[in-house]
Amino acid sequence: MPKRARVLVAIDGPAGAGKSTVARRVAERLDMVLVDTGALYRCVALAASRAGLAFSDEEPVGALAARLAEARAIRLEADKERGVRALLEGEDVSIAIRTPEMSLGASQVSAIPRVRDALLAMQRQAGEKGGVVLEGRDIGTVVFPDAEVKFFLTASPEERATRRHLELVQKGTPASFQETLADVVKRDKADTERPVAPLRQADDAIVIDSGGKSIEDVVDEMVRLVSQREAER
Ligand code: DC
Repeated sequence: MPKRARVLVAIDGPAGAGKSTVARRVAERLDMVLVDTGALYRCVALAASRAGLAFSDEEPVGALAARLAEARAIRLEADKERGVRALLEGEDVSIAIRTPEMSLGASQVSAIPRVRDALLAMQRQAGEKGGVVLEGRDIGTVVFPDAEVKFFLTASPEERATRRHLELVQKGTPASFQETLADVVKRDKADTERPVAPLRQADDAIVIDSGGKSIEDVVDEMVRLVSQREAER
């Protein structure tokens, strides 16, 4: 593998640790491209739902993902405001993929091996040249085990549930804290125990616990570590 002109940064971790915001700001500060890999799984979920398929229906959902990948029908583009815009067959679906139904759908379709396979080549192509921040669950372990900088951003289930609960309250969606915490624990269990590409930290990842830290502090720490790694090359 020839040396990349700029490093590739992998940011993995469970939902609710502040990964998306942190990844967006780190990419901005380092003038790198951001690839939100969760958006790819969300696009597959949306396409499955529109095709009338059940998210758990492995065979047809896997075939659909393979077809979409083959036709290059899922694309991520840079967006000044949001960081990344998701396009499905040319349509901007950035908002449509962010509903609770698509969160659940993405989580289900992401457990299907053929779906993961279909999205793998796409992610590798997006990052191989470096100068890219990829955010997901298995970037440092499966997609780019050779990433020059790997972060595993985490926080306790209680911290993550507190953040998620606040978001829900702000959106006007009623849910008790206990329900939110139970959801976080359930999603963690599903993500870490699935047989294919489960969420786990790479041996060489830098673990950052965002609990009790501001987003800015986490971003500063990551930018400093990436800059240091780039300067050392
Ligand atoms: O990060 P997110 O919430 O947008 O991700 C949506 C779902 O996709 C999540 O339940 C886990 C899955 N996912 C994955 O399995 N692997 C990735 N690299 C990114 C997301």
